[in-house]
Amino acid sequence: MDARDLLTIGDVAHRSGFPPSALRFYEREGLLRTTRTSGGQRRYERSTLRRLAFIRAARTVGVGLNEVREALDRLPYGRTPTKGDWTRLSRAWRARLDEQIVALVALRDGLDSCIGCGCLSLQRCRLYNPEDRVAAGGPGARLLPPLLRRTPAQGV
Ligand code: FES
Repeated sequence: MDARDLLTIGDVAHRSGFPPSALRFYEREGLLRTTRTSGGQRRYERSTLRRLAFIRAARTVGVGLNEVREALDRLPYGRTPTKGDWTRLSRAWRARLDEQIVALVALRDGLDSCIGCGCLSLQRCRLYNPEDRVAAGGPGARLLPPLLRRTPAQGV
């Protein structure tokens, strides 16, 4: 790759909106790769900007770093990923994102209804969860989709 096509850490930070510390973190986590100048400075392929946009979008909807890494590992290094490469990634992720969409819709539409959390505080709880019978199924808001009952990636 022509050195003129490579970006500095400052270029990438400016264009992506990620601070240099985050770029170094993602490199340590194996989500990004860099080359070094003879002086040891990092240089990034321009396609790194799309990887970073993907990382931000995935993290924003709560996808864990390991899952993001698995997805990005499907993309080639050393050449700019093609549309076909991204299509393969998006196909692999379609079911994951569909599940996320269903969960978000359920959350949006369920907030004013009984979610089976055990509070029995809404009128509808008597209908959908009399005497908290859904508790037999386990902890958490049993009437919400499983994705919304999982422990978040951060573990809290
Ligand atoms: S909303 Fe909590 S039990 Fe119904």
